[in-house]
Amino acid sequence: MVAPGTTPHRDLRDLLKLPRSPIASYLQKQVTRGPRRQKAQADKPWRFPLIQAFTPDRLWNFAYEYLRNRFGPRHALATYSGDQFDTGIYPLVGDEGGIRIAICGDWGTGTDEAYQVAQRMKESDPHYTIHLGDIYYVGDDVEVKSNFLGVRDDNTGYSPCQWPCGSKGAFALLGNHEMYARGNAYFELMLPTLGLKDEGKRGQKASFFCLENECWRIVALDTGYDSLGWPIFEYFFPPKCGLTVEQLSWIKNVLKLGDDGRGVILLSHHQYYSRFDDWYPTAARQISEFLSRPVLWFWGHEHRMAIYEEFGADGGVRAFGRCVGHGGMPVELPPAEPLHPDCPLEFVDVRPYENTEYLKLGLNGFVRINVKGPRFAAEYVDLRGSIAFTESWEIKEGHLTRVVRS
Ligand SMILES: [Fe+2]
Repeated sequence: MVAPGTTPHRDLRDLLKLPRSPIASYLQKQVTRGPRRQKAQADKPWRFPLIQAFTPDRLWNFAYEYLRNRFGPRHALATYSGDQFDTGIYPLVGDEGGIRIAICGDWGTGTDEAYQVAQRMKESDPHYTIHLGDIYYVGDDVEVKSNFLGVRDDNTGYSPCQWPCGSKGAFALLGNHEMYARGNAYFELMLPTLGLKDEGKRGQKASFFCLENECWRIVALDTGYDSLGWPIFEYFFPPKCGLTVEQLSWIKNVLKLGDDGRGVILLSHHQYYSRFDDWYPTAARQISEFLSRPVLWFWGHEHRMAIYEEFGADGGVRAFGRCVGHGGMPVELPPAEPLHPDCPLEFVDVRPYENTEYLKLGLNGFVRINVKGPRFAAEYVDLRGSIAFTESWEIKEGHLTRVVRS
């Protein structure tokens, strides 16, 4: 809901059915240039004017932006190599009530719904916030500023959205959409604004990191850097979305990820598996070199909220998957026929979202986590503040046990 006298945020409709393709994302970006003047009506929903992308001026702009951003090397991968002050392993600390963490994915849309999710995250007074990646449409400088950093883009007239920072810090993973502009804005504009607050504002140095205490290790993996190939060739040889050599070296030699008895929570942009969508099991197979016990794994990329039972692909680490890619994009309701019926789903949020655009969608939201000693509690909160699913886990000598589910 937009307060009277303020400019609105972007409409969900503008991002509806956005293809996971760089060229289509650049094209769809050209369609809408500012807030609509008329409200949608139940009997007269807005039509999506994709044809507008093909007017001469927009087609020219599309070609200019696509060629300028897509051709050239990816931004250099930032690492912790040679930095004696920053290893990418940070302390997980809170207060007497526990450690509060707010996580969501695919939030960087600039929509009214993203704004509301950010408000709910702020209300939870988090110590840490973590974005699982994707700034739309293509994660370039202007979009990172308006859809993540809260800087108004005068060319569109939309109100900007700012990622809520926790009292201890904020972090962001790298999604495929940031890579559609070769990761330049992610590394150059976003990371310097993130990181721990009490570390002299050094920024988040790399796209992978770990937050840890004596009971838990929250390990954020970068599956986005390997999500982009060369234009045209990427359609014939799709990237694997695996972990880079540099990241694997950090996991092995610096993080020393292993079976040390602490609970392991993995975060990534891409889903390991899904009942409804594509699988990206490469990172899970790489991680299986270090871990032989099940983990909790939160991911985005897929725009819904889903809870899975323990599952794993051949050769991959076993994981209790949690899809929380419902931060800001239009939330897809599950199809009647799942793509992978063997994938053991425990819960998926199918509650309808009554919206002013008259779209048949699900509810946006985030996961609110509280870590206290060996207990790890998660509440899946929607943009209205209602809780869709609650669970609590305990770690004992490396063994994860769920003690609460509702
Ligand atoms: Fe994505």
